[in-house]
Parts: sequence; structure tokens; C-alpha cells
Amino acid sequence: MIVAIDGPAGAGKGTLARRLAREFNLAYLDTGALYRAVGVRVLEMGADPADPASAAHAARTLDPSSLESARLRDEDAGDAASKVAAVPEVRAALLEFQRGFAKAPPSPCTGAVLDGRDIGTVVCPHADLKLYVTASAEERARRRTLELQEKGFDAIQERVLADIIARDERDRDRTAAPLAEARDAFVLDTTEMDADTVFGLAAALFRSRADQLAETEPEKSGKPDRP
Ligand code: DC
Repeated sequence: MIVAIDGPAGAGKGTLARRLAREFNLAYLDTGALYRAVGVRVLEMGADPADPASAAHAARTLDPSSLESARLRDEDAGDAASKVAAVPEVRAALLEFQRGFAKAPPSPCTGAVLDGRDIGTVVCPHADLKLYVTASAEERARRRTLELQEKGFDAIQERVLADIIARDERDRDRTAAPLAEARDAFVLDTTEMDADTVFGLAAALFRSRADQLAETEPEKSGKPDRP
């Protein structure tokens, strides 16, 4: 079973995807990390992440081991990621890897969950379950500021909010695979929800979809065929 989770920065997609992966034995791919790794690579080359030639070169020669780097979580990595992500050649270079992961998740997982901006619309348009996780920009900024402060950074909420708004605009307004809700996605607005409530809703949707697949496509559901 393939689960696609999309939504803007800081909406809680990663937390939800990790919990779903653990609960339902799915392999998890954080596709934002791919764009972050490309962005960091361009910065390390001393180039501009918005320069299409540098960004495309970094994407084509990406070393998968760089996906583990702690540097990817930095704010400048997120900003660079959002810039390289607007370059069509970068998106094309990362597309097959993402589709391959969804189609053949590493053993012993029985399915995959991918989170990003275009999973339900472009990467896996035939995903079995699509979720669009969102929250108001103010709430996302509040959560992100707390997270940064807990890590010991001197974060100022107004500045974090300005970064989030700029990133939202860039991710939504680009021509190449912009952030958008798939028509058949379930929208979870988490502004007033805690992580357990979001997980409870998503898990219920997953179970109901798995039951539906067990009726119609037993081989996909991971459940034994009904007599
Ligand atoms: O989810 P994140 O904050 O780690 O993503 C970083 C940036 O990468 C985000 O601003 C836009 C880009 N991205 C994308 O364009 N498509 C994806 N599937 C995932 C991320």
C-alpha cells in the first residue's frame, strides 16, 4: 500500500509519516530531505541554489549517503531546498528515485509512505491513500519556533513566520510540480489538533482503505485473501 502525504512546511507531515510507518510496517521516505541535500550541496559548491545549472548538476550527482547529514535540518538548508525545488531538471532527476522507492519499498516493509509537496499529484498519482496535512502559518511558525528553541537556537517567532510565508509562496507558485492538494486527498487541518489526534484520524483512514483494498485488490492490502 502506498501512502502519499503532502502539505506546507512545518505542518507535521514528517511526524505523522514516521508514526504511520511504524504502526503499519511501511518504509518511509522524507522527500524533502532529497531537496535539502541538493540545496546543501549547491551551498557547499559556493553556488546560488536558484541557479538552474548548479542545482541540476548537484541533483544529478547526489550521493545518497548525504541524506543522513544533520546539516539538512538547518534553516538555510530548507531555504536552499525550496529554491532548487523550483528547477524542473532537479525535480526530474529526483523523480525516478522516489517512484522506485514507492514501487519497491525496502524489505521487510509491506508498503511505503512518502511525504513532500507533490507526492499525491506527481510522484505517486495512484497512491492508495492521499493525505494533505496543513495548519495556519502562525501555528506552524509557533511550533517551529518552539522546536528550534528546544534545540538551543535563539529563534524569533516573527522571523520564523516570515520564512514560512516566503517558503509557502515559493512552493505554491512555482510552475514545476507546485504544492497542491490532490483532488482525491483527505485534508487534515491540524491547527487545533495535537499529534495524537492527527495520528488517530490518519490511522483510521489507513485502516478503512486497507479494508476496502482487501475486498477489491487483496494482493495490495497486505491482508490474506478472504475465503
Ligand atoms: O518538507 P521540507 O521542509 O523538508 O522540504 C524542503 C523543501 O523541499 C520545500 O520547501 C520544498 C521542497 N520539496 C519539494 O518541492 N517537493 C517535495 N516532494 C518535497 C520537498
